Amino acid sequence: MLLQTKSLTKNFGGLRAVSEVDLSIKKGQIVGLIGPNGAGKTTLINLVSGFLRPSKGSIIFDGVNVTDKKPHHHARMGMGRTFQVTPFFGEFTTFENIVASYYLSADRSFWGSLFKTQKYRHKEAKVQELAEKNMKFVGLEKVRDELAGNLSHGHQKVLDLAAALAINPKFLLLDEPIGGMSREETDLALNAIKKVHEQGTTILLVEHNVSIVMGLCNHIVVINYGKKIAEGLPEEVRADPNVIRAYFGGEYAA
Ligand SMILES: Nc1ncnc2c1ncn2[C@@H]1O[C@H](COP(=O)(O)OP(=O)(O)OP(=O)(O)O)[C@@H](O)[C@H]1O
Ligand SMILES: [Mg+2]
Repeated sequence: MLLQTKSLTKNFGGLRAVSEVDLSIKKGQIVGLIGPNGAGKTTLINLVSGFLRPSKGSIIFDGVNVTDKKPHHHARMGMGRTFQVTPFFGEFTTFENIVASYYLSADRSFWGSLFKTQKYRHKEAKVQELAEKNMKFVGLEKVRDELAGNLSHGHQKVLDLAAALAINPKFLLLDEPIGGMSREETDLALNAIKKVHEQGTTILLVEHNVSIVMGLCNHIVVINYGKKIAEGLPEEVRADPNVIRAYFGGEYAA
């Protein structure tokens, strides 16, 4: 098991945003996390990635108890993430943002090995080369020299994904990586996510568009009011009466 949470719980004052959630994610899976607005999806992602500390419960990642660890520890172990609201440097180009992601997120051993074995200019050249490869991998080469602040919403989201790839993650948490995109942008983002998965990265993805999640993911977890109410294959979850009542029956009717 790559990720295992037990009774994971987060209280905000009197509000229980995440309640007793058990998650088990195997290496190689692409898991969809769905649920209505305010269900606790982002909070769960923040807990798993170390950005929030749980009120209760435990998180085991790749055999290590990371429950009380900080995000940089998770990153060093190969856990990457994107954000629901995309952070980037608007005054930098697409390419410069991807380059910056290597400097900002790379772990010490990566730099250590570069410093020991190569001269500084070689290190810079290596980062440029990695960033170039990464940019092409996600399909952003057409907007290479555009300022990130001027990119379309979809391209900004894919840029966030590219930045998360700088640590070469074995596990990637994606919070609405396709939210609010045009058809063309959706295809670009979906294609990039599929490629990341195919190269061996395990993925946990939050997404509102149910048909996209069902098409992309081989395992679905549904939460409502912070509680896991169903999980399984897409077709199992789609047919679950609890899910239909809590989720499909509401404003997100498929
Ligand atoms: N830092 C916080 N302090 C207080 N309450 C919070 C905080 N973060 C989230 N909440 C509350 O916790 C609940 C779960 O929020 P969360 O953002 O995890 O939901 P979500 O499933 O990601 O929703 P959405 O689909 O809108 O992104 C909500 O009621 C929200 O208002
Ligand atoms: Mg959210």
